[in-house]
Amino acid sequence: MTARFQADVKEKLSEFGFKKAVIYESIVSTSNPDKTPNAAPMGIKLIDDKYLNLTIFNSSTTLQNLKTQKCAVINFTDDIEIFYKSAFKKTKLPNKNMAHWFVQAEFVEAPKLRVANLTLEVSVIDFKPLDTEKTKVTCKIEHTTSQSMHPQLYSRAATLTLEAVIHGTRIETYLNKPQKQTEIIQLMEKIHDCTDVVERVAPNSIYTTILSDLQKQITLWRQKP
Ligand SMILES: Cc1cc2nc3c(=O)[nH]c(=O)nc-3n(C[C@H](O)[C@H](O)[C@H](O)COP(=O)(O)O)c2cc1C
Repeated sequence: MTARFQADVKEKLSEFGFKKAVIYESIVSTSNPDKTPNAAPMGIKLIDDKYLNLTIFNSSTTLQNLKTQKCAVINFTDDIEIFYKSAFKKTKLPNKNMAHWFVQAEFVEAPKLRVANLTLEVSVIDFKPLDTEKTKVTCKIEHTTSQSMHPQLYSRAATLTLEAVIHGTRIETYLNKPQKQTEIIQLMEKIHDCTDVVERVAPNSIYTTILSDLQKQITLWRQKP
């Protein structure tokens, strides 16, 4: 059984592995007006150990609930079914009834995901409309609970960088095979697509550094006779 401990927000949050400027994928749980729970996958970006930002579509129930309740729980899990079912609530996939996913949070009036590796109970301190579609929400972290010192954090930058590295290894293997030249071009386009997203979700990070180096290596390989 994993030990449950209350991490000190001020000192410990950055030690959980969060990197600055990187967007991490979470499940944001909020209370509906009738007090039933709502959950949706949302990207979060830490500003520092106390504050974080979300960018949320105005059409979402999550934003409406945040405006009413001014609080939420940011839950981190690696359970992909929870991501899928909270994004597409009408799916008929069996098991895991959403109603049983939650317990009441301790410090804010919001539901908390039972199975989360790490939860941040937050209060909303600011809403800033970005355009006609999205609003930037700034939250203060009121309380942190983690199941371990090394909770699993999901970042698209990490998986897309790994995907690009895999494409890179294929390009290297195919370099001297004339029949594979079209495939090489397609792989390079895929690496380009991965890089576009990584630059958006993790600018100036170890991920962009790796992808830029990979691009340089591929250029060098292709210049060799
Ligand atoms: C991994 C992942 C990350 C997402 N991030 C965001 C986000 O940052 N902002 C947003 O508005 N929607 C995001 N979405 C889409 C919402 O989760 C989705 O539209 C959801 O149905 C909204 O639910 P709600 O209406 O209950 O809030 C994301 C979806 C996934 C799968």
